[in-house]
Amino acid sequence: MGTQGARRVRRSHWAGGNTLSVAITQQEAIRVRWAIFGDIHSNLEALDAVMAECQKLNVERYLCLGDIVGYGADPVKCLERVIDMKIPIVAGNHDWAVCGKLSIEFFNTYAKHAVYWTREQLTETHMEALRTWELVIEVNNDITLVHGSLSFPDLFDYIQTSQDARLSLDKLRTRVCFLGHSHVPVTFFSGPMVSYTMSYEIDLKGFDKSLVNVGSVGQPRDENPKASFGLYDDKDGKVYIKRVEYDVDKAGRKIIDAGLPEILAERLKYGR
Ligand SMILES: [Fe+2]
Repeated sequence: MGTQGARRVRRSHWAGGNTLSVAITQQEAIRVRWAIFGDIHSNLEALDAVMAECQKLNVERYLCLGDIVGYGADPVKCLERVIDMKIPIVAGNHDWAVCGKLSIEFFNTYAKHAVYWTREQLTETHMEALRTWELVIEVNNDITLVHGSLSFPDLFDYIQTSQDARLSLDKLRTRVCFLGHSHVPVTFFSGPMVSYTMSYEIDLKGFDKSLVNVGSVGQPRDENPKASFGLYDDKDGKVYIKRVEYDVDKAGRKIIDAGLPEILAERLKYGR
């Protein structure tokens, strides 16, 4: 697993918050293979499997879409693993819920239970780390990261329809925006009519702007239990959705042993 430094170059405001712009050290002409991953949800087995796959794929740079915690049994290890990578990370709704920046009024019973349990596992240092993450990050003026949507990042809306996608595409200032939140891989393209694909091989060329949901590492919800992440080749302008098997039974047993709701273990088996 490689580490990387991010250098702050610019901050700008959108309604309700900041966009952090970073340049990651590289020569523009050189091809970079990026891995974009998120919605880990304290699933260490899934995270480790994804990182092992990234090494095999010779990934050079990593970007994280948030929701590192919530639902699963390994919040501390997952959080520390990702923080140690020193990569750009945007905040997810579960990250903000756990550190007290987002109300859990609208979380379902199981998600609430997981938030309360996760708070007991984390130290103040962990909480402080969660509080510092931005909602939107632009990388190299080419990539935008957001957990939910660009239209109102702090509301953590889902992008599920062409109309939802249009609102975010109108705000997008780079070629591609990677996002998560729904835990379902899908890509929307700009144009007179917003179009979409659920393909795992996505060619961004020919479209001004694209929104790519890379799916979830630790709690997929597209009826495929394999961990999901995105691989972006910035020279080719192609994104590949990658799926990786991991030890679902072990992750599930840990959830039950921790006293978390059994349904959170069960759903991992079915990817929903
Ligand atoms: Fe999530």
